[in-house]
Amino acid sequence: MPDDALLSLQLDHVKELQTRYESALADHGFDSLLIASGAAPYRYGDDQAWHFQGYGPFLHWTGLTGREHCWLWIRAGQKPVLWLYQPVDFWHANRPLPEEPWQTFIEVRRSQSPEAPLLNDPARLAVIGDPALLGAAVGERNPDGLLRTLDETRVRKTAYEIDCLAHANTLALAGHGAARDAFVAGESEFGISLAYQRATGQREADAPYHSIIGLNDHAGTLHYQYYDTQPPGHSRSLLIDAGVRFRGYCSDVTRTTAGPGESHFAAVIHGLERLQLRLCDMVAPGVDYIDIHRKAHQGIAALLSATGLVTGLEDQDIVERGITRAFFPHGIGHFLGVQVHDVAGKPTPAPEDAPFLRLTRTLEPGMVVTIEPGLYFIPSLLEPVLAGESERYLNRELLNLLRGCGGIRIEDNVVVTETGGRNLTRTP
Ligand code: GLY
Ligand code: MN
Ligand code: MN
Repeated sequence: MPDDALLSLQLDHVKELQTRYESALADHGFDSLLIASGAAPYRYGDDQAWHFQGYGPFLHWTGLTGREHCWLWIRAGQKPVLWLYQPVDFWHANRPLPEEPWQTFIEVRRSQSPEAPLLNDPARLAVIGDPALLGAAVGERNPDGLLRTLDETRVRKTAYEIDCLAHANTLALAGHGAARDAFVAGESEFGISLAYQRATGQREADAPYHSIIGLNDHAGTLHYQYYDTQPPGHSRSLLIDAGVRFRGYCSDVTRTTAGPGESHFAAVIHGLERLQLRLCDMVAPGVDYIDIHRKAHQGIAALLSATGLVTGLEDQDIVERGITRAFFPHGIGHFLGVQVHDVAGKPTPAPEDAPFLRLTRTLEPGMVVTIEPGLYFIPSLLEPVLAGESERYLNRELLNLLRGCGGIRIEDNVVVTETGGRNLTRTP
């Protein structure tokens, strides 16, 4: 049961969204907006559907995940109306809706039909959601300009959203602790996944994304997607990237652990963690997020030197020769919210030296970002370096020793405050 303070903040949150949406609608010449929660599509040629989570704007308003065929109507100067799909159905259950204060601001009606509601006075109406599910709904469908403005309403989180994201982090940390214990106890990737689910009270399908759980060389595949049911003969490393949803809001946390006797790997983890904490400390209003990404490359260059993986080069040369990109190929992070890679991060494209960066904005109070540097031993990225003219600066012996540990990623979730940053993953 959420506490009264959180429920009261949620009421403020929906009131704030009403203001933001009224202004967005006016800017684009609409009087009202119908939002479709969506539904899970069926797998091609099958009678089984994918697991459903929900459409971003619907979650932004309600936090209600897993609610198919619901509709939310927003109008200037009037109470929003939520049609909750609750059919008589002996195949599936209707999850009850707990009574909460936000329902004093949003009128809830029950509906037996998955179709869009018939509106009395739709006036200049927009309707947004998965185009395959909008059916006979009237109104202009998914207008581009309006969608972009609505994405922008999600960039600066309200106090309610930040509390939810903080709680999603607390839950994830319990899962990460259990995962680490399972690794130390010699569990398989599958066993570690079970430990994570048990500790977080969340089934895999309800997580913000599939948990990435890699032992040994599997840790070197950025989004490793399988779970071995048997542990390897010798567990040298664990990388787990796993989050939790709380009232629709996601955490996105990664931890890497060295197995017993892996002192070289443990030293690289330690160095990367110190760098990661320094990068988290950079989060503040007015900071260009791309600068944090570039600082990560400089820090990784210094770490490659300090650990002896690269010798005989200045840090800047290690970056300029593209060596750090072979070890750290992804971006430093992204926005976080009701979607793990939250919207509106890239009004301008990623720069050439950071093609996979998902966030290119200057930080503002209320933004929530991830900070997730990595250092991996990925054969397909290291081989071209080893075959090129930078080869002589790389310590092959140490690389060969560490290759079997796969790689490291350390990821926290940080809020931009008025004066700096607040790390939700490190503060209880
Ligand atoms: N879990 C995916 C990511 O870190 O972006
Ligand atoms: Mn992650
Ligand atoms: Mn992430």
